[in-house]
Amino acid sequence: MIRLRPIAACAALCACWPLFAADPKKEEADALKACAEAVLKGFRKIADTRDQRFQGKVSEANALCRGGYRTLQFRNTPWVDWSNYWGTADSNSIPQLLVKNAPAQRGVLGALTDLEFQRIELVKFNLFDNNGTYSEYVQGRDGVGGPALKRWDAMRLPADHPSYKDVGGDGAQVCQGALIRFRNVDGTCNDVVNPAMGSAGQMFARNMEFDTTFPDAGQNELVRNRHGDRLGLLKPDPQLISRKLFTRTQSNADACRAGQGISADSIDSNCDYQKAPFFNVLAAYWIQFMTHDWFSHMSEGHNDDSQWMEAGCTSEEAQRLGCRPGDRIDRGYVAQDSAPAAFTFNNRQYLSRAPKTFRNTNTAWWDASQLYGYDSVSRRRVKRDPNDTAKFLLTSTDGKGTLPTFSAGDPVVPQWQGQEAAAFADNWTIGISFLHNVFVREHNAFVDAFEKQAQKTPNSDCGLRNPADARRVIRYTDVTPDELFEVARLVVAAEIAKIHTIEWTPQLLYDEPLYRGMNANWNGLLGPDGGGVSKVLADIVTKNFGKSTDVVKATQWYSVFASGPGIFGLGSKINGYDVSKPEHVNGGVNHFGSPFNFPEEFVTVYRLHPLLPDLIEFRDLSEPNKIATKVPIVSTFESQATPAMRSRGIQNWAVSLGRQRLGLLTLNNHPLFLQNIAIPRLKSETGKIDLAALDLIRDREHGVPRFNEFRRQYGLRQLTSFDDFMDQRLPADSPARKPQQEMVANLREIYGTHVCDASKAITDAQRNGDGTPINDCLGHANGSTVDNIEDVDTVVGWLAEQTRPHGFAISETQFVVFILNASRRLFSDRFFTSSFRPEFYTTMGVNWVNNNGPAAMVEKGSPNGHVQPVSPFKRVLLRAIPELQTELAGVVNVFDPWARDRGQYYSIDWKPRGGAESDPAFKQQ
Ligand code: HEM
Repeated sequence: MIRLRPIAACAALCACWPLFAADPKKEEADALKACAEAVLKGFRKIADTRDQRFQGKVSEANALCRGGYRTLQFRNTPWVDWSNYWGTADSNSIPQLLVKNAPAQRGVLGALTDLEFQRIELVKFNLFDNNGTYSEYVQGRDGVGGPALKRWDAMRLPADHPSYKDVGGDGAQVCQGALIRFRNVDGTCNDVVNPAMGSAGQMFARNMEFDTTFPDAGQNELVRNRHGDRLGLLKPDPQLISRKLFTRTQSNADACRAGQGISADSIDSNCDYQKAPFFNVLAAYWIQFMTHDWFSHMSEGHNDDSQWMEAGCTSEEAQRLGCRPGDRIDRGYVAQDSAPAAFTFNNRQYLSRAPKTFRNTNTAWWDASQLYGYDSVSRRRVKRDPNDTAKFLLTSTDGKGTLPTFSAGDPVVPQWQGQEAAAFADNWTIGISFLHNVFVREHNAFVDAFEKQAQKTPNSDCGLRNPADARRVIRYTDVTPDELFEVARLVVAAEIAKIHTIEWTPQLLYDEPLYRGMNANWNGLLGPDGGGVSKVLADIVTKNFGKSTDVVKATQWYSVFASGPGIFGLGSKINGYDVSKPEHVNGGVNHFGSPFNFPEEFVTVYRLHPLLPDLIEFRDLSEPNKIATKVPIVSTFESQATPAMRSRGIQNWAVSLGRQRLGLLTLNNHPLFLQNIAIPRLKSETGKIDLAALDLIRDREHGVPRFNEFRRQYGLRQLTSFDDFMDQRLPADSPARKPQQEMVANLREIYGTHVCDASKAITDAQRNGDGTPINDCLGHANGSTVDNIEDVDTVVGWLAEQTRPHGFAISETQFVVFILNASRRLFSDRFFTSSFRPEFYTTMGVNWVNNNGPAAMVEKGSPNGHVQPVSPFKRVLLRAIPELQTELAGVVNVFDPWARDRGQYYSIDWKPRGGAESDPAFKQQ
């Protein structure tokens, strides 16, 4: 009989280890037998149809092999199995008594295998382009299967585009010459044969079957069976949900004053929030900074302000909780809302796009457009230094000033006046100001280094080439200020992508499988930190695709998953690379048959407003262990950030944002200031909006499927009641159960229950285990009362998830969206693949990106068992703000709270490092 030790009570972010068997030797013997059995049974095949796909749940033998009895115990929950494998959590997940490291290795490799299966199937089943290419994706063209297509008419430039003639006009369009040298402001010509792909104004894509989107409209029988008539734009009331499920509970409301604090500068202010121990406020701002690069539904800081709509708060109960019936918001822009064309293929009917589409007004590329611009108007907000136009303008000439403010004549809407100048100027507060200032300094630091080299060796080859005259060597001295500005943009954009991939994400997902997975994406599978991933991929590739005669499997998929060198730089190392040949310049990209853009569902899982605290614990770098005062974030909104940055000092903001923990992504943890934010442009009696409620309204406007169908569409297990949100790993007497039970009760109160009808099928994305359709009863008896779990708004659902892999600041539902889209963002961009070359970046630029600066540096010791370079963001910060040298000395990952002791293997304990013992933050919960 299997005997398990009881689990200790644990917080939301820990996977509740240890839970080993009483006899570990026997457990390992059983596990090894199970491994043999799993091998005999053979490798899992990639699903042919989406209702057969891998749901992150493995066979009993694999579960036992990779994680022992514990993994078996939780196989029946809706949540992925790998988070219970050995080695995937902190040191307690490594069974030391057993053969050293072997079980942990199996666990980690098992987790990586599961993640690869998920990624492959996500690529296969979740790509739905809204720009007019979807019918070809389904039907193929000229005998080539849709997923193997690489060029689309829908990605041509229109006749009124300024570059129309240059790319070939009416004929075959190919970008060339000046158009392919750098990142164009509007994002055109990243893919040289699909000039419009990813450019500003293209439609957001979808990751969900089109006929599943817009559930409120009840378009088909499955949707109507799933939701009855229970959904609407304001149904259930978004402000009621906000006040009941999103509000932070305060121990002393008067000290918080809805996020305003006692005053703009009072040490006695206090706003309680739930904190993540291993992620800092800088990380919260980092992701807002990223979203400002990737996407926006808005135009110049507003939506369709010719139409104003109500925002809920209709019931007395809602009003009693403090919401505002007088709030109004401008309707979201809609690009197309006519009935989409339908087509039939292989006896199945398809829609050619979603019933409504929306434009991404930003460039979808990871091109640092928040700094450099995404259209001609935003570009005019970028201020260059008149004394050296290769540089950004800063307020002092020593390169260490701050950004200048907007001046008269700059194209800005009234609410941005007085702000520091930036291409993407919306929703500006102190953290965004900080990051813009840092990366502008980094841009100028690169320019300085290049110009210094140009002075030293003016006549040597800098590596750059002009495709229009590819043989001509370009010497350092030949590079014009405009060219150098654009080279520096390429470098800064690549540094940002690198920081995000190998520094921010491994701290967001703080465990060994994700550390290895993310490093493999960037550095290659054979690099020291990609170790093990190459074996996983080799197995999947050879056993699934290697011998396939299917065009898609044998070509496209194979090339992707055999990508030994990593995604970054893929296709850049071919012999005889010729910058005048489009097949070389563009040869490394892979769009998997669907032009790249972000899907609406991606925006949904980035609605991360709970990450922010209400108050910044402000510190002075000269006395970092002391919280000098508390600054309400709202007191730094828009132009108020300018004096805050200038008078308080960037080095002090650095240590303040670096030391403070960010907010947990969980229910009842939204910043109070965002629920009550005053936005002067709003035409309403309150002049305020509840942003937490607005997040729900926008998702409903955009037709994002509700949480349970969202999970099914992404190949995750559905939930069958609100109780499934509870963490099953908690022992019956754990005190952590009570708040979770209260959460379940609140969900039930808001979303309700109904008497189910088993004759009504509700989805075709998945089936029951016995092959029957999933019906309204979700496995409960016909006619019984079931939870309206199908109606839960997706943001509410992922915030309610209590069962997460170790060290995950996000939920597994959000994570699955990232697995797909974060890889595509790299695979599709030629500047990260085949155009990552000196011909575009200069030799110095390539080295700068690879070495995280002018020369490579290695971090002390081997954090979590890995020898690693000094992190890319630490290097950037040390260049931009050299005063941080001492504070950052012991920091391995800039997004881990700077004074935290990282402890042993992926510890998430909240303990001070040596020298920070007196920091009062360690006395807080
Ligand atoms: C003080 C900080 C912030 C302020 C004042 C702010 C404010 C806003 C506002 C006013 C909107 C537009 C709502 C609409 O009309 O649709 C918005 C959207 C959004 N925010 Fe924030 N936000 C802040 C921080 C963050 C952070 C930290 C994240 C994390 C990723 C984030 C992610 C988003 C996303 C994804 C959207 C949707 C954008 C779109 O639809 O294109 N925000 N925010």
